[in-house]
Amino acid sequence: MQAGETGFTPELLRQLTTQAADAADHAYAPYSKFRVGCALLLQNGSIVTGANVENASYGLTICAERSAVVRAVAEHGPEMRVLACAVTNLNQAASPPCGACLQVLSEFMLPASRVIFRSQTGWEDYRFEEVFPHRFKLLR
Ligand code: THU
Repeated sequence: MQAGETGFTPELLRQLTTQAADAADHAYAPYSKFRVGCALLLQNGSIVTGANVENASYGLTICAERSAVVRAVAEHGPEMRVLACAVTNLNQAASPPCGACLQVLSEFMLPASRVIFRSQTGWEDYRFEEVFPHRFKLLR
């Protein structure tokens, strides 16, 4: 991944991916043993992290991305916007955000915001609109 692709400096990308990996250490994943970490870069320059939090009911599990979004709103308010979302896991597996997380992220990301995730060979990096072109919108 080159800094030129994202417009972010290599140092910022390193910080984001490192913070995502560090966040995965805090995951609560006793059922799947799949620990995921997410780091969001906000428009105000802050980085907010999240980790997955599982539940015995399985269905109540919260993904790392959504836990980071909830934390970002709680800490920075509803006007916060996400310029980049970096995701990784501790299983050396690919870690793209799931569809539910993309829908939740869509409220706060811009079309040109970056989705950066670990793949089996390294890091992949896409524009948000590439990975999630048609978000659900409530139009009445
Ligand atoms: N998980 C995430 O944290 N993010 C995703 O985008 C997909 C899946 C978590 C949920 C669950 O705790 C574990 O990964 C296995 O599905």
